[in-house]
Amino acid sequence: MADMDGFKEAVNFGVGQTASDTGFHVKGASCMSWGMKDRLSRIFNPKTGRTVMLAFDHGFIMGPTSGLERIDLNIVPLVQYADCLMCTRGILRTSIPANVNKPVCLRSDAGSTILTELNRNVLIDVEDAIRCNASAMAVMFSAGDGEQEAITAANLVRAVDLGNRYGIPVMGVTAVGKQMARDARYFALASRVCAENGASIVKTYYCDGFEKIAASCPVPVVIAGGKKLPELEALELCYKAINDGAAGVDMGRNVFQSESPAAMIQAVHAVVHDGLTPEQAFQLFEELANK
Ligand code: 5RP
Repeated sequence: MADMDGFKEAVNFGVGQTASDTGFHVKGASCMSWGMKDRLSRIFNPKTGRTVMLAFDHGFIMGPTSGLERIDLNIVPLVQYADCLMCTRGILRTSIPANVNKPVCLRSDAGSTILTELNRNVLIDVEDAIRCNASAMAVMFSAGDGEQEAITAANLVRAVDLGNRYGIPVMGVTAVGKQMARDARYFALASRVCAENGASIVKTYYCDGFEKIAASCPVPVVIAGGKKLPELEALELCYKAINDGAAGVDMGRNVFQSESPAAMIQAVHAVVHDGLTPEQAFQLFEELANK
């Protein structure tokens, strides 16, 4: 039966289909171990098959990013509205109460800051990810970026090997290559390479032609929000991504830099899980923001 489920999933699970069409609600995960499935189920809501990850790992490259200066004041109040937290182990241990009971997608690589070229990233010790009770490990992959491509591919492969040993899924984070434009061809290549190397989730960016990126990636794709946009535009981005096959968002600046971050994450949640249109979600944002 497992083979049949896997076959059905490979053939059928794509844009326009719901999680209940397959044997397991996370794309590409039918044949995984119990521990992997359990962790993926903590990230992807079994009812909708989707997730709203709150990304606040920016400091590992950018230092005290605007909106992330005080994790206790800026981020902790938002945690209740997120399905999953994406952050570094330093911020997790110092600033997130251990009783929030949220799955963590742990930033599991580290490298240079914005002051230097991004290069020679290293992987953290997987045992420390286990100590943090990580539900997934996030590792960057820089397609088309010279030596950095090989280094990040090696990190990704190593994380997948160690993750498979302990039942921890890996999220491949597609970086933006220096030489290549942010177009569907680039992100489809980077996303597919992450999945081919064993990533169970891919984080990439929304762009024209996103439907092809999601359809040609055999695991769930979540989108980063990118630079801060006006709230309605950010909600439109979420809506289009979900409509075009994304399994959720891994959003940072468009939430924590919003004029009302708590209202914004709830509006994003409503688009991702409840199918609100951008206009309906923006109305919800305004109502919550004005309360
Ligand atoms: C930084 C990251 C961020 O988590 C990612 O870019 C999502 O944040 P944003 O929505 O602000 O783009 O991986 O390295």
